Amino acid sequence: MNLSAATRQYIDLEEKYGAHNYHPLPVVLSRGKGCYVWDVDGKRYFDFLSAYSAVNQGHCHPKIVRALKEQAEKLCLTSRAFYNDTLGPYEKFIHDYFGYDKVLPMNSGAEAVETALKLARKWGYLKKGIPETEAVIIACEGNFHGRTISIVSVSTDPDARADYGPYTPGFEVIPYNDPKALASALKEKADSIAGFLVEPIQGEAGVNVPDDGYLRSCYELCKKHNVLFIADEVQTGIARTGRKLCCDHEGIRPDIVILGKAVSGGVLPVSAVLADDEIMLTIQPGQHGSTFGGFPLACKVATAALEVIEEEKLAEKAEYLGQIFREEMKKIESPFIRLIRGKGLLNAIVIEPYNDKHAWDVCLKMAENGLLAKPTHDHIIRFAPPLVITEEELKEAIGIIRESIKSLE
Ligand SMILES: Cc1ncc(COP(=O)(O)O)c(C=O)c1O
Repeated sequence: MNLSAATRQYIDLEEKYGAHNYHPLPVVLSRGKGCYVWDVDGKRYFDFLSAYSAVNQGHCHPKIVRALKEQAEKLCLTSRAFYNDTLGPYEKFIHDYFGYDKVLPMNSGAEAVETALKLARKWGYLKKGIPETEAVIIACEGNFHGRTISIVSVSTDPDARADYGPYTPGFEVIPYNDPKALASALKEKADSIAGFLVEPIQGEAGVNVPDDGYLRSCYELCKKHNVLFIADEVQTGIARTGRKLCCDHEGIRPDIVILGKAVSGGVLPVSAVLADDEIMLTIQPGQHGSTFGGFPLACKVATAALEVIEEEKLAEKAEYLGQIFREEMKKIESPFIRLIRGKGLLNAIVIEPYNDKHAWDVCLKMAENGLLAKPTHDHIIRFAPPLVITEEELKEAIGIIRESIKSLE
């Protein structure tokens, strides 16, 4: 790609002064609206990453931005040392919206996952009667739950995990999409297992969609063995896959739901853990918290962002447009495309290298042609546009993907 002087300047600054923990495409963005972003030279792109599904409601959604501005002029942060007039109404709103007794508000997705792990352990000791320090949480191969030491302790991705030991004990990893593996793990030591942590679709692993019925089978196994079913819906939740929660596709109600990203429409880091009283009230005052968790700005922004999901019927849109996306993509005949998979508007193509061109080259070509997506694990490209994209825009975007792939053949 030919880079403008302005683009190069911003990239050089990050290269020189920022930690090198990301490898972005060489595009410098300065503005966003709906399903579009613009770079510093004014070029417009379809955003097909949506900040890893945080921007489901579209960039700078006017209702969410208005909520942010109005609250920012009134009260931003009080900490949880005092009550404020936004948190209670927000908590009730979340209760009504998702149907759980309680919410525990945090900021990043990883913090919410940590919170869920702590909750599961507390419940395991206080309610299930697991002997002290023996609680085990089962997770799945290929998982991505965030970047903390405990979370990477359960990762099977060498990049995420290597050289961060010593690792947190108390986890067991089983294959994903394999209810039998869960059944045998539970059979072996159900008495010490507090929870089963699972992504309804593994987003970072490359949009790994499990077989129909997998989540339900796991849920039933958990019920049978008195183990908490913990759904990490940070990426799959909030309408992305065509339902409010991805678990809704199988009609199951997890014991603990972990939310992040699109809870705020990408405006602030807002995450949340949902559970009923029997689980949530095992954590007492002083036993967990966060300075910013549930701060007034977050409460107002998240309320507006979740209202937008309902008002604009974004789950229904994701379901409808997702089908069109997969159908149209399947029509593209190319040696580059090995597989197309996904649910709602969380989709991916598995790229077969061809002519020494890889997923990265496809993404560079798409960027040149006005569409941004990013490879995950070298050979998979995730496609997750903001859910506010129209059918016409989606079809135009598919045209760009098609042309980009074809031009590399
Ligand atoms: C399923 C899942 N859980 C947790 C996280 C971590 O969220 P955050 O980056 O906000 O800490 C992510 C981020 O991609 C995710 O996809």
